[in-house]
Amino acid sequence: MRAVDLIRRKRDGHILGADEITAFVQGATSRSWPDYQLAAMLMAILLRGMNAEETAVLTRAMVFSGETLDWGDLAPRAVGKHSTGGVGDKLSLILTPLAAACGAVVPKMSGRGLGHTGGTLDKLESIPGFRIGLSVDEAREVLKRIGCFMIGQTKTIAPADKILYALRDVTATVESVPLISASIMSKKLAEGVGGLVLDVKVGDGAFMKTADDARTLARMMIAIGKSQGVRTEAVLTAMEQPLGRACGNAVEVAECIEVLRGGGPSDVRELSLDFAARLVMLAGFDNARQRVEAALVGGQGLETFRRMIEAQGGDPRVVDDPTRLPLATSRHIIRAERAGIFQGWKAEAVGRAIVRLGGGRDRAEDAVDHAVGAVVLARPGERVKTGDGLLELLFRHEPRLGAALEVLVKYLAPKSGDIVDTRKTGLAWTTIFNKRVFLLPHHGEMGICRPGKRGMRILLARRWSNRRRR
Ligand code: URA
Repeated sequence: MRAVDLIRRKRDGHILGADEITAFVQGATSRSWPDYQLAAMLMAILLRGMNAEETAVLTRAMVFSGETLDWGDLAPRAVGKHSTGGVGDKLSLILTPLAAACGAVVPKMSGRGLGHTGGTLDKLESIPGFRIGLSVDEAREVLKRIGCFMIGQTKTIAPADKILYALRDVTATVESVPLISASIMSKKLAEGVGGLVLDVKVGDGAFMKTADDARTLARMMIAIGKSQGVRTEAVLTAMEQPLGRACGNAVEVAECIEVLRGGGPSDVRELSLDFAARLVMLAGFDNARQRVEAALVGGQGLETFRRMIEAQGGDPRVVDDPTRLPLATSRHIIRAERAGIFQGWKAEAVGRAIVRLGGGRDRAEDAVDHAVGAVVLARPGERVKTGDGLLELLFRHEPRLGAALEVLVKYLAPKSGDIVDTRKTGLAWTTIFNKRVFLLPHHGEMGICRPGKRGMRILLARRWSNRRRR
């Protein structure tokens, strides 16, 4: 079977057979297909698509490109969760120990942050000493003792995905639902779980910007999971605003500890309880919601988190004293200059600002500063007074703070010609670098953005229309 013939068939819109798809994946794994032919096939798939059957075959071939894990007598209770990624998305750190405390077995393999979205591994590595690189034997031992572990993907899990993902990243072929589905599901299916919950984020700060796209991805992944005998559920959750208040690495771990103590922001607590309950149910337990609520209130979730940290070489004292986490001491607070009802933050803007502070990475090889981040001080719909804090940036180096503020301006400053419905949202602003940004509700009129001396200003519709009449 010649690579060029398979590429031509997909390019011309044919449905590929199982042997053809398997040849493509084997060609990637053995490196017998050169990168230009792999890239051409990826582009043909992106443009022509794949049906559910082809995508299931692709996923299966990617799973069997490497090792598949088997948890022996723990396997019947082994369940997993995957998030498509967002800003402030710390749910895995809470729901993994919480579900384990209720009897589920959670062998959690996670990824690093890339682009504006954070990664569970980076958050865990802010805990002094925590090892995300356990061997499979070490991980199995922790799983037996604690009921969960949280580690990085081993090199032997779905190696075809590693090769194909790196090519997709540089050939504009990431945004393909069959390719995304096969990439995510190949790694999850190789983890040896019998039940899987997918958190498909949708909105400004997510991969999937619309609910329709998110639903298509969710349905495709559910179909793949079921075709491989894994009970699979997906939940679409909003990623317009950062999740919770803390965004970054150490600062998010501190918020997780707060939630496991029974406090923390209500959106994080509610989603953690919901996902943990789904895992516990998939692991075969009844009254799952009551169980996870009891484990939260009774502190068993927190205790499991402490034991997991200790078992993976981390300092468990962070659980009682989060100041042991590397938290930045320099702060910059962005404040409201006018009273109003706060309209909210764009998740992507906050995520990109954190990358500029050093808390995320643009390239896979970049190092991360675990101490920096942001704390959301005002939530959408909250009434703020003049001088109230809207966002706190935690930083180490002044130039990085400047770069983060520039990113916020770029993403949030209104552009000339933007129409603002102040009847719904009112109007107020703050100033960064002499530029007005962030619209805050106040007046209740329509307005249009126009350049002014101090950056963009908003001309209210009343004056705007008077002027046009004159
Ligand atoms: N996450 C993955 O693991 N793969 C993709 O293709 C997209 C997001």
